[in-house]
Amino acid sequence: MNVFQIQGGNRLQGMVDVAGSKNTALAIMSAVALAEGTTVLTNVPNISDTRIKAGLLEKFGAKIEWQGNSLTVDCTDLHNGETDEETVRAIRTSFYLLGPMLARIGKIDMPAPGGCKIGARPVDFHLKGLALLGADVVLEGGVYHATAKELRGAEIYLDFPSAGATQHLMTTASLAKGATTIQNAAMEPEVVALAQFLTSLGARIEGAGTSLITILGVERLEGRPFRIPSDRMQAATYLLGGAITQGDVTVRGILPGDQTAVVNKLREAGAEVEEGADWVRAGAVRRLKAIKVKTMPHPGFPTDMQQPMAAVLTLAQGTSIVEETIYESRTGHIGELNRMGANIRVEGRSAVINGVRVLRGAHVEASDLRAGAALVLAGLAADGETSIRNVHFIDRGYENFEENLRHLGASIERVAVAGLEPASG
Ligand code: EPU
Repeated sequence: MNVFQIQGGNRLQGMVDVAGSKNTALAIMSAVALAEGTTVLTNVPNISDTRIKAGLLEKFGAKIEWQGNSLTVDCTDLHNGETDEETVRAIRTSFYLLGPMLARIGKIDMPAPGGCKIGARPVDFHLKGLALLGADVVLEGGVYHATAKELRGAEIYLDFPSAGATQHLMTTASLAKGATTIQNAAMEPEVVALAQFLTSLGARIEGAGTSLITILGVERLEGRPFRIPSDRMQAATYLLGGAITQGDVTVRGILPGDQTAVVNKLREAGAEVEEGADWVRAGAVRRLKAIKVKTMPHPGFPTDMQQPMAAVLTLAQGTSIVEETIYESRTGHIGELNRMGANIRVEGRSAVINGVRVLRGAHVEASDLRAGAALVLAGLAADGETSIRNVHFIDRGYENFEENLRHLGASIERVAVAGLEPASG
């Protein structure tokens, strides 16, 4: 297995370009199954999650070709393929292929999905929405067996603005007969990007980015080239790196509007933040101050940055409170940060962080993707050496992570050590 070895204490300084968005790419790699002909996706992050998803599409008959960050997909001839449970469980978005496959070939069998272990992560909103669209889905022996003679438009109300359910149902409705509305829809930028992609294929979608999305089903969608926008979570992680190391990091090629929640919280904590048309610069010249953070659906503070932000606040002056409202157990970073000298206690859904003056390097373990990112940030700011196990979790979401961090001045190496790779989350 691989570990990250970090020699802490270097200030991160300089500019970095971030890779394409993981979560947009994964959603689009389901939607692409709706299209006949060839779709060329560029700026696709070449990370383990997208490679797994591409492999899954191949099992359903898609023709796939990777060239660096460009992915050519031809879903003209699809069939209900044999999928192995291990591959499907490795990523949550395997499940988002259900609707598109029903729209295209009327049948699919798919083992229940997996993803990072951060909460129960049910799929009931997806199932209710698919049923309203005319699908018949039965779970038997851990496998979803789904069929649909015809998909038809429906009025869907989501109990919670789930990003995944919004994406899955909006995608599926694009080939359903008639109009579909999704109320209480997620407003995440990844939903907007997906709608742009679907529209470029010929779909008719209005309201993406608001809580009411209307989709008018069309008969057929055709492959088109599309560039995946940059990853707002990777971008935010580098900005937090600038803040925690009292450095000065500029992330280029991003939409600053996507960073509003993180940027505002960094400013509140006393970080220096500047924004331009397509860049954000963050750093700190003195110790940050404690703040309160509460995760919310977009445009609130993103749950994906909750753990990295908590790492930053371990070194802030005073007592910070970080409340997680989206997932019930996104807490894998807490014990590990405490091993590094942080002072965090859990109270209900909140982490109460008493800021310390120094973190000290330690042997720690990533339990999921963003917990891993939090530990990397802590390691960069800690005194001495930190070694982080289970790097494969971090590889799910960060392309060229250590190269980018080294470019910014960090001392971080990926080292292979003997030991078993634990099962992927
Ligand atoms: N939920 C349900 N039922 C459902 C669907 C969701 O109860 O059918 C609940 C979830 O359990 C959770 C909440 O609704 O408590 C929000 O979940 P959502 O569906 O929005 O999350 P997701 O689509 O499964 C995506 C990202 C996550 C990110 C969340 C929230 C992908 C592949 N994953 O997950 O990304 O945390 O949206 O923004 O797009 C990550 O990148 O580290 C990551 C976990």
